[in-house]
Amino acid sequence: MALLDAILDASVVFSFDRSGFERHAQRFVAADTRVSMQGKSVLITGANSGLGFATARALAALGATVHLLCRDEGRGRAARDALSKELPSADLHLHQLDVSVLAEVRRFVEGFKGPVDVLVNNAGVLPDTMTRTAEGHELTFATNVLGPFALTTALLPKLLVAKGRVITVASGGLYTQKLSLPILQGAVERFDGVVAYAQTKRAEVILNELWAVKQPDITFSAMHPGWADTPAVQSSLPRFYRLTRSRLRTPDQGADTAVWLAVAPRLAGKSGLFWFDRAPVSTHLARWTKESSEDRERLWRLVEQPVR
Ligand SMILES: NC(=O)c1ccc[n+]([C@@H]2O[C@H](COP(=O)([O-])OP(=O)(O)OC[C@H]3O[C@@H](n4cnc5c(N)ncnc54)[C@H](OP(=O)(O)O)[C@@H]3O)[C@@H](O)[C@H]2O)c1
Repeated sequence: MALLDAILDASVVFSFDRSGFERHAQRFVAADTRVSMQGKSVLITGANSGLGFATARALAALGATVHLLCRDEGRGRAARDALSKELPSADLHLHQLDVSVLAEVRRFVEGFKGPVDVLVNNAGVLPDTMTRTAEGHELTFATNVLGPFALTTALLPKLLVAKGRVITVASGGLYTQKLSLPILQGAVERFDGVVAYAQTKRAEVILNELWAVKQPDITFSAMHPGWADTPAVQSSLPRFYRLTRSRLRTPDQGADTAVWLAVAPRLAGKSGLFWFDRAPVSTHLARWTKESSEDRERLWRLVEQPVR
């Protein structure tokens, strides 16, 4: 059985897909997510759609105070109203935040009162053309890496008070890339959205490891959801979506590990790991994708600079 599991996991398709989730779920401990989150304050970026919405619903159902951080007020309101309808006693708060704009991130944190037990850096994009934000950063990098780094940095005092958790929704796409700071910054002749996206996911996971060392009183976790049926996959990867549609996970299945990381009782001493289906997994499938320690430090300096 263990051998069959290993073969199916190595196939990627039968691991990242819905059958992979169902197979891995057989070893889940149901009691892990049967906990009360009453009195816990959770912030989720990109909470109006896909995995962010599923995470918000699951944590609100456990009694958490859930702050929905959404870039579009109308879509945010629609998500909040849908959640309120489904969970009338849920404690929900909507905040308008475009995480790709560092000035907005700063303003949001300055105005945010109260503790932060859990921050879920979930918002992400995979654009097929190169765009720069008004602050001059390539959009994929700004949304997936710089903004979440700035948000985490600014929320550190609140996270420290709560001895909180920070969860990064990364992607299995990182396995295809070795960290490249020029690609991350959009310093390329021909922009390839899939490569740019995978680079940001590689960066997210490295930063998760670095954070864990620098802030030992906070639990940092990165996870990947496998392949889940969300608007992002439909619009950003239409061909992949057509081919895999019947095999994709539901948003709840894709969000399961993020929810588990927010509530699971036994995470002490497990900061900085990369998780998939509630189990730690390797961050590399091939040796050539391993970055040098110098490049890891260069990445930290690159993201720290605009945030200071
Ligand atoms: N679905 C998968 O199979 C899969 C696989 C690997 C990783 N992921 C990761 O999962 C995360 C969630 O994606 P999803 O699949 O759930 O896609 P989704 O349904 O499109 O959700 C993405 C969310 O991010 C928000 N967002 C985008 N740019 C933002 C910004 N600048 N500021 C604030 N929010 C922003 C979107 O807001 P709008 O609705 O306003 O656009 C949306 O709420 C992403 O980090 C993605 O990389 C997903």
